[in-house]
Amino acid sequence: MCGIVGYIGKNHAKEIIIDGLKRLEYRGYDSAGIALAREGKIETRKHVGGISNLEKIIQDREYDSNVGIGHTRWATHGAPSDINAHPHSNEDQSITVVHNGIIENYVELKEWLIKEYGVTFLSDTDTEVIAHLIGIFYDGDLHQAVNKAVEKMRGAYAIAVIAAQEPDKLVAVRKDAPLVAGIGEGCNFIASDIPALLKYVRKLYLVENNETLVVTKDDIKIFDEKNKIVKREVFHVTWDADAAEKGGYDHFMIKEIHEQPEGLLETLNRRLNDQGEINLDGISMDREEISRFNKVYIVACGTAYHAGLVGKAAIEKMARIPVEVDVASEFRYRDPFVDENTLFIAVSQSGETLDTLAALREAKRKGARVLSVVNVVGSSVARESDDVFYTWAGPEIAVASTKAYTTQLMCMYLIGLYMGKTKGTIDENYYRKVIEELKEIPEKLKTILTQEKKIAQIAKKHYKNNEVFFIGRGPDSGVSYEGSLKLKEISYINSFAIAAGELKHGTIALMEEGTLVIALATQDRLFEKMVSNMEEIKARGAYVLGITKEGNGEIEKQTDEWLYIPRCMDELTPLLSVIPLQIFAYYVAKERNCNIDKPKNLAKSVTVE
Ligand code: F6R
Repeated sequence: MCGIVGYIGKNHAKEIIIDGLKRLEYRGYDSAGIALAREGKIETRKHVGGISNLEKIIQDREYDSNVGIGHTRWATHGAPSDINAHPHSNEDQSITVVHNGIIENYVELKEWLIKEYGVTFLSDTDTEVIAHLIGIFYDGDLHQAVNKAVEKMRGAYAIAVIAAQEPDKLVAVRKDAPLVAGIGEGCNFIASDIPALLKYVRKLYLVENNETLVVTKDDIKIFDEKNKIVKREVFHVTWDADAAEKGGYDHFMIKEIHEQPEGLLETLNRRLNDQGEINLDGISMDREEISRFNKVYIVACGTAYHAGLVGKAAIEKMARIPVEVDVASEFRYRDPFVDENTLFIAVSQSGETLDTLAALREAKRKGARVLSVVNVVGSSVARESDDVFYTWAGPEIAVASTKAYTTQLMCMYLIGLYMGKTKGTIDENYYRKVIEELKEIPEKLKTILTQEKKIAQIAKKHYKNNEVFFIGRGPDSGVSYEGSLKLKEISYINSFAIAAGELKHGTIALMEEGTLVIALATQDRLFEKMVSNMEEIKARGAYVLGITKEGNGEIEKQTDEWLYIPRCMDELTPLLSVIPLQIFAYYVAKERNCNIDKPKNLAKSVTVE
């Protein structure tokens, strides 16, 4: 977690670094800090809380420089506080470091530094160890001192370092945490993620694992693990810079909810040719290979895991292969049944989630074919997979994932369809029908967006609730989990999702007068079963908000309030039924005055275990 930015060039570094950090706040906002090197000294300022707190303490300071580093923190080691905020320095403040990630052997290193060098530590962080280590190895060559320090460090990290005696360079290292370098004119940059630099550069280097950068204002040198210079192709960013801004909406989350028709269309069009055939472009999976797979694992975290739940239903139905869905943090610690006949699908918006990455590596080690469904081009998950199926959602800034989820679902359907068609487990008619319906989804989704005001009114009625239940059957049960997560993460309401049929095995005990239950009843073949479940909970006093397809008017008799989604095949309803849940969560959080785009304790990219 955490975001780092570095700048060196002809302009004032302070403003550029602060601007970059603001675009990285999605990575954490427990504290922020900046260090600038000038006239043989490094000046550091840092403050607990978001970037605005940092801005207040630096706004009337005169100091500036042409080289500096900055940090926005998501606390791991040491509570959020001024003292634990980055940057961290060695004792004489000649070396200063910002860091994203974790140094796993920091206790050992700390004890060694205290014993051998009598170092005094100021903070509780693992990062401070890095500054002291580089400090003791430093003899006028920052690059070599960083190399020596890195040899001693274990863990996953991206760091950027400046030295008081070498204000003409900054050094950065990437090991299992994201890092990019921006190529300017007479200036250069480093950052944890591309949006931090979009205002200034369009040309970047994607830094690989175990690489070190030595950045001056005129040059970026990339060194591999053996300290050999690496030649890297320039990566050209084609995104619209506006895509990373709010574009007139109050929050990124609602903007991103509205961007879903476009993201879905793009994700579909990139994989569909004029004849309606799925084009895997670059992914070589023929009939023989697909028939060899006797098992599919879908592994992910949070919302991406929920996309996997829907993916399981789609792939099992279409390709007739058993699919297991697992949370990445559990997968690799239980010796899963994976071999060369396993297709492993990693799902990740950021492509940097450490648990997902670690699970992917474990699956690869065991011989699985690794296909990833990823939004961020060039991210670690994408680069380490055998094949990538990109979601073309565009940059997702709000911490709560919306458009990444629906585009992940689109990929799941396309993967299921492709496998099913190639294997011959679905016939041409079914294939064509699903493709035609997928093409209609973006327009249908827009009609749900027109109900935004109505959903906002419903949210206004319920925002004071202390708990909310979500229920559904079949694909609706997977969507219930996502609806529940969305609500709890941004509104802090205790919400709970359960397969509707499971209710009477325990959870129904919690139903009482006025308990709010959001019941998804979009599956035609399971509609009557859902009606029974709704009756059961209404009999216990629950207040039921039902969501179903147009035409299922029966819902109006069974529920206290209802919303309709356009008709589509049962398999595909998750692409639509999640939308009212996203909008409901957004407006509930808004009524409760929550920090919607940056909920407390969360970060967009979770690069720690
Ligand atoms: C919730 C949310 C998280 C992420 C999870 C995985 O709205 O966004 O649950 O889905 O942290 O992140 P990625 O998809 O980047 O691997």
